[in-house]
Amino acid sequence: MSQTPSDPEVLRPPTGPADDPSMSAPQQLERTASMCANEAIKCDSQGARGMAITYYQQAIDALVKLINLYPSSKLNPLYKDKCNSYHERITVLQQAHGVEPAVDPSATPEEQKKSIQRQEDENDFEDLIMRDKPDVTWDQVVGLEEAKSSLRESIVYPTKRPDLFPLGWPKGMLLYGPPGTGKTMLAAATANEMDGYFISADASSLMSKWLGEAEKNVSKLFDMARHYAEKESKPVILFMDEVDSLLGSRQNEIGGESRSRNQFLTEMDGINTKGKELMLYVIGATNKPWTLDWPFLRRFQKRIYVSLPTQDARQNLFEQYTTKLKTDYRLNSAGLAKLFDGYSASDIKDVCQAAQIMTVHEIFDSPDYTEPVEGDEPPQPRDLTMSDFRKIMERRKPSVSPDMIRSYHQWSTEYQAL
Ligand SMILES: Nc1ncnc2c1ncn2[C@@H]1O[C@H](COP(=O)(O)OP(=O)(O)OP(=O)(O)O)[C@@H](O)[C@H]1O
Ligand SMILES: [Mg+2]
Repeated sequence: MSQTPSDPEVLRPPTGPADDPSMSAPQQLERTASMCANEAIKCDSQGARGMAITYYQQAIDALVKLINLYPSSKLNPLYKDKCNSYHERITVLQQAHGVEPAVDPSATPEEQKKSIQRQEDENDFEDLIMRDKPDVTWDQVVGLEEAKSSLRESIVYPTKRPDLFPLGWPKGMLLYGPPGTGKTMLAAATANEMDGYFISADASSLMSKWLGEAEKNVSKLFDMARHYAEKESKPVILFMDEVDSLLGSRQNEIGGESRSRNQFLTEMDGINTKGKELMLYVIGATNKPWTLDWPFLRRFQKRIYVSLPTQDARQNLFEQYTTKLKTDYRLNSAGLAKLFDGYSASDIKDVCQAAQIMTVHEIFDSPDYTEPVEGDEPPQPRDLTMSDFRKIMERRKPSVSPDMIRSYHQWSTEYQAL
């Protein structure tokens, strides 16, 4: 690239329809933001980091202006999301700038350039995945017995006795269900159960906004997983969170979306047929199963519903969280479980936290509150009661609506495969 980030010609916000006088102010700002973002993505995919950063920043500036000018616009959450993702990308690019790739001094300048690009790509890719073994155990995943046993049967048994499965075994499992119900935890616990590798990647980050790379990232991810499975002959779980985003939906990714989806299908076929003996499993998670098409679903032979907690599971969750708290002796977990019907496991965690924090606020808000003096016993929160939880319930609705649950059930009747 001969152009440098300081070249004023290059860094001018892209002109064009953004200057169209027939457009309203918000339309113009939005257009500027979108054009800057497109430009940023283009620079980014060509490795022009400095320019990409500047354009991402210009896109953010335009969106922030838009938000400030029209604070009540319904689109603001979307703009904020965009700002956050551009901001995240800027941070990644800035960090990558700080790491000087190693070069071989005896190589030709052309080879050196290629090697730098390769290493920089590698750094970006490494940012997208996690390879640490999680420390979640089966026991920590409350309820979901059916999901647990389905995963255990499909992954743990073939790993222990492959000789018992002459026809092979399913390699793709899809965990679907409302947010905060334990999909990620289940995948982590499965990986923990085996002496193997856990590779976790967020499909939405793989898709990223920098075109072309999405497809490459998918194939790289599978290469890496295969490499571990073949070389170390240990089972490998490749966990893909938000797997629905591989199908893409963003305007900017019209070219990229089908390619990465197709790449994914090809990779899945590879492990299902060619890699019969390979101990490589793909666990996908989604809370929008209905956005997945049939070719995509077909590759996940097991489709497991991760549901809201039952009465028993809620009771168990309340027991778990309230044992760490000071509670009134009349507080009973069965009663709490009944009260919080329809709440997800992570809602319940938040509810317990909110109730506890409420009693802490009382300490600070008390007219008698004084800064603790050394030697004196500082004030402690009072015991939590049922009525505290009722108060929290009035303020905090479940994160999943009954309508959503009906949609999951409906989808399950057609597509669940245990
Ligand atoms: N079944 C469960 N048992 C115990 N804790 C749970 C369970 N489900 C959720 N939690 C709590 O909620 C948090 C979020 O759970 P997790 O990330 O597994 O949800 P998820 O289904 O993957 O959600 P999302 O669809 O939003 O990714 C966990 O860290 C845990 O504290
Ligand atoms: Mg999750």
